[in-house]
Amino acid sequence: MSQITAESKLRTPAEAAGDYKGLLVRLMSRQLFAETATAEVFGKAVTAGPTWADKYLAAEFAAEEARHSQGLYDLLIDLGEDPEAIIAARPDADEFWQLDLNNWLDIAVFNFTVDRAGSHQIMEYRQSSYLPWADSQEVVLADEEDHYDNGVENLKEFAKDPKKLAQFQTIFNRVLPNCVKRAFGRLAGPDNEMCLATGLKRNPTEVIVNRYLAEMRGHMEGPGLKFPPIAAFEAIKCELADSSKEILLSLQA
Ligand SMILES: [Fe+2]
Ligand SMILES: [Fe+2]
Repeated sequence: MSQITAESKLRTPAEAAGDYKGLLVRLMSRQLFAETATAEVFGKAVTAGPTWADKYLAAEFAAEEARHSQGLYDLLIDLGEDPEAIIAARPDADEFWQLDLNNWLDIAVFNFTVDRAGSHQIMEYRQSSYLPWADSQEVVLADEEDHYDNGVENLKEFAKDPKKLAQFQTIFNRVLPNCVKRAFGRLAGPDNEMCLATGLKRNPTEVIVNRYLAEMRGHMEGPGLKFPPIAAFEAIKCELADSSKEILLSLQA
């Protein structure tokens, strides 16, 4: 819809039509993939968690991710879409995020790494021109703050034991490149331009990725976690802007 601009505010599903609606549904579907896959990861964490405190928190997080998923599910129905069909097309959660869901360390790395990448996309959606979606993301982001705090605390715990930190690092080297590729998508292209032109997102992908990586670096320096080598990103064909490579290269083993 050519009359929709970055300043537009759409208040009802009926106002979303044409190419704008197509892109909106693609973005919301991608978030639904992430939220449902994350709900399943935390569901598995109830079994994998080593202590009752870990299991209880995992159950809480699973319920919150399920609520985030349900919010999108309902919004997609309002737009005339079939969320069950969308979810059915997603790879299994372990394949989607490249995780061994029976391994608590994999889940801890996920909690620190992948879940936070989603939050940085949600920070964009919260300011989106499609208000039913934007307004619903405030509560989601508040939940996600707690999830990340827990991810950071877990990393600090693991870092007390050099052997565990080394294991964390190995898993992180596998999970982060896949996460950047999955969570942020392509750097350029018509979808990105239209996102900015219609206010579906407020920042280009490069800026969002860099905001995420810089925040991660802030929490990695203390515990001694390093970014994976650039080769690990290249091996899975994860596109990186030069400015993102710079951040990755600033904290290497
Ligand atoms: Fe979530
Ligand atoms: Fe989360």
